[in-house]
Parts: sequence; C-alpha cells; structure tokens
Amino acid sequence: TRPPATLLFIFGGSGDLNQRKLSPALYNLFLDGWMPEKFAIVGLGRTAYSDEKFRKHLYDGIQEFSRRKGEQNGHWKEFSQHVGYLQMDGEDEAAYSKIADKVKEVEEQFGEHPNVIFYLAVAPQLVPDIAVKLGKLNLCKDTIYTRIVVEKPFGHDLKSAHELNALLTSMFAEDQIYRIDHYLGKETVQNILALRFANALFEPIWNRNYIDHIQITNAETVGVEGRGGYYEQSGALRDMVQNHILQLICMIAMDAPVNFEANEIRNKKVDVLNALRKITRDEVHAYAVRGQYSEGWMKGDKVKGYRQEEKVAPQSPTETFAAIKFYIDNWRWQDVPIYVRTGKHLHDKTTIITVQFKQAPHYAFPPEAAETWRPNRLTISIQPKTDIRLRFQAKRPGQTMTLSPVDMIFNYEDAYDGHEPEAYETLLLDVMEGNPTQFMRADQVESAWKVVMPIIEAWEQRPPVDFPNYSPGSWGPEDAEALIARDGRNWVTLPAPHKE
Ligand code: BG6
Repeated sequence: TRPPATLLFIFGGSGDLNQRKLSPALYNLFLDGWMPEKFAIVGLGRTAYSDEKFRKHLYDGIQEFSRRKGEQNGHWKEFSQHVGYLQMDGEDEAAYSKIADKVKEVEEQFGEHPNVIFYLAVAPQLVPDIAVKLGKLNLCKDTIYTRIVVEKPFGHDLKSAHELNALLTSMFAEDQIYRIDHYLGKETVQNILALRFANALFEPIWNRNYIDHIQITNAETVGVEGRGGYYEQSGALRDMVQNHILQLICMIAMDAPVNFEANEIRNKKVDVLNALRKITRDEVHAYAVRGQYSEGWMKGDKVKGYRQEEKVAPQSPTETFAAIKFYIDNWRWQDVPIYVRTGKHLHDKTTIITVQFKQAPHYAFPPEAAETWRPNRLTISIQPKTDIRLRFQAKRPGQTMTLSPVDMIFNYEDAYDGHEPEAYETLLLDVMEGNPTQFMRADQVESAWKVVMPIIEAWEQRPPVDFPNYSPGSWGPEDAEALIARDGRNWVTLPAPHKE
C-alpha cells in the first residue's frame, strides 16, 4: 500500500543533495507506484526560482543522476505537477509563516491533513537554527503528522551530537526525528539481516568459536570532489567510520532480533555499539592508522594531492584514509578482530564485508593438497557489485585428490529481474510510511561517537608526521597493511570468481 497523503518540504531544495539524490529517488518511487496518491513536494531555498525553473533544475538532475531518466511516457510531467518552490531564507524567522500557509493550502487542496515532512538537506551548521524555528511552528507539536529528517554528519563529536540531540528532542518527539544514514538503505546492507536471520545455516556458526575475523573494505576512487571545505572539518573517520562503517558492523554483529519492530532492531544494534571496545588514547597507535593521499595518477589521469585541493590547508592534518582494528567485548565476539579500512582515491570503488572462518580442525588429505587449503570465507559485496559468495574447498577433477578453493555465488543480477532501488528511495519511502527502523536513534548516534572519540582525540593531539603517505590508486598507506599483517592476516579485495 502507498503511504498516506504527504507534504514534503526540502530545505536546501536548490542544493546538490536534492538534485543528485532526493529528487531522483522521489521520481523513481513515483514511477514504481510508491508515492502517495496525494503528495506535494516543496523545495525551499534562497536561490530565486519560479516553480517552472525549479522543475527544470530537478529535471536536469534526473537526466544526470537518476537510474531512470527522461519523461518516461509523460510521467515526469505528471510528477513535476506535484513539485513547487518557495524562496525563503532559513535564518529569517518571519519567513516560516510561508510554511504554515503552505500547509493550510495543501490541506485544503487534499481535503485532509497530510503528513508533513521537513527534510534538512543543508549544511550541518544550519540544522540547529532551522530546527528551532520549525519547532516554534505550532504544527510541529502535532506528533502524528510531522517528521523531521536530519542528514549526516550528526554532530562533530560526542559533545556536539549530544547537544544537537538535546535540542531536537526539546522540539520534537524522538519518533518524529529521522537521522539518516544512507548506507542503511542499501539493498545489500538490508539483506544482511535476511541472510543471517532468515536462514538456519549461518547463525549457529556466527560467533567466536567458528569465525577467525571479520573485515570491511570501503574504498572510493573519487577524491574529495570539491568538498574540501566540509572535508577539512571531517576526515575519513568522521565522514565514513563513525556512521556508515559502524552501522555495517552493527548489522554483521548484532544478536537476532525478536521481531522487526523499529526499536527492537535498534536496541540490538546499540548493544553492539556499546560493546565495541573503547580503546584509550594511548593505545590508539596499535589499533588505528590514518593516511592522506598525495598527488599522483588514477587510471591515467593526473590527480591533485589532498593538500592541493580547493579549500584545504597546505599542511592539512586531515585524514583521507583510516584503517582500524575493532573488538567487540561480549560473549559472541570476544577476541575476534574486526578490521575496517576506508579511503578516498583508492584502487577500486568497492564496499565488501568478509567473514573469515577458522581453519578446519584437522587436515586428512594427501600432503600435496595442503598448499591450496584455505579457510572458508563469506564475502558480502555491498557495491558496486551486489553479491554474496561463499568460498569452500572442492576436489579438482582428476585422478588425484587435489583440493582448491571455489566460490558459490549468489548474484542479484542473475537471481532477480529488474532493478534494485537506490538507498534514498528506500529511506524516503520509510519516512513517508513512518518507519524509523533504518534510521539512527539518539542513543545510537551518541554510542557511535563514543567509539571513535579516543581515536579523534589521539589524532588531534598528535598531528601526523608523514602526510601525505599514500599514492592515489593504491590501497592506502603501508601501515594499514602492517596493521593486519601483524596478526598474520591480510586484506581481502573482491575475489574474481575462482576459475581453474
Ligand atoms: C557520504 C560521504 O556519506 O558517503 C562521502 O560524505 C562519500 O564522502 C559517500 O563519498 C559514499 O557513499 P556511497 O554510497 O557512494 O558509498
């Protein structure tokens, strides 16, 4: 069933996020028949746009960024009739009456009270002010109908995240606040729960008795893409680890939920965050590695070093790469390391989670087979490939008992016809339906900050001495190899299917 009647306000309507992600997602939901029967989308921003110009601006975005482009048999025209624009300065309190007027107008037009959603697609420093001004509008007290969506970064550190939570929860009830982490909307990320908890096969061995270690590689080929100003305040740890990567760890490590209630799932995730070992500042060097890219070459193109990027300080200490070894101190995971690495301008665009099992306890095969004997490994490819593969040993055809590892692969493309929705489609639909399961609760965000704070503080205290320390197109600094090699292990990149 479609969500109920909805009026969606997008602050930062003329901005990048709306053009690249939100509007394409809404259009695709429309094409798939998921938009409410009655809906209106209102972009808010300082740029002067007529409704027509604004629609054209969004259409350009559809052409460039949407998985389905163009008119689609007149559907764009139909969709765009639901889209309008209100020029307003978010800092000007008086301007908020325009919002209240719009709500009344749409209510009359629909003949019912729509759900009102405020999507804050704005720079993080503007969020508190807008939230306060929205909070003063009477309609926000209407907890059934009104929701606010807040993008990452949610705070800059534990203290500011806590303050932002306090401010938001003084204006809105917790179940009106949708803190978005787009990784949670990815198909393959959601599928981790299905894999683990809809099958009897994996859960019995999903623990310290059978699993040797887990690793997550989240690599990007892009650099900071003109976002130097933002990135200087952020770095890889805040940009990727505090949110996306810790959420991936939660999905892979949480206990089985009793049901699919939003708070049940989120409680189980918070348990993981709370159990993640808080290393002390003095220990950080043994657990965490940082890196920054130099100038160099990416697949034949010359690229700037991070310090030469626009709005980046010439001696910037900001990390564009981070690798960390985590531990989860609980019964299931004690002593099982979780290695993660993420960075810009790395060798491939790829996000994979690898669960490596322990070696079989006894080797009974002829000695010559031993060379290729490898432990089982489950690899979940989140993107760009979407598949799950299980490596196991097989006997090679022939007259001798020779073993080699092979992959059993579940591939989305082969298994299902049709497309996978984009993360923002899934998450926007969730907001319209009022389902906060895939969104971050206040305590989740703060627990995640607590995990990374010692690393942030240690790194701030001791500026890096070796930056820049990795070349574009590599897998990051050498220290990241050493971090895992010290434990007798190695990073896994997406395995090509084993072909003999
Ligand atoms: C964003 C970060 O949250 O995630 C970006 O701010 C990063 O720096 C992006 O590029 C990666 O998202 P995805 O979906 O392409 O992996």
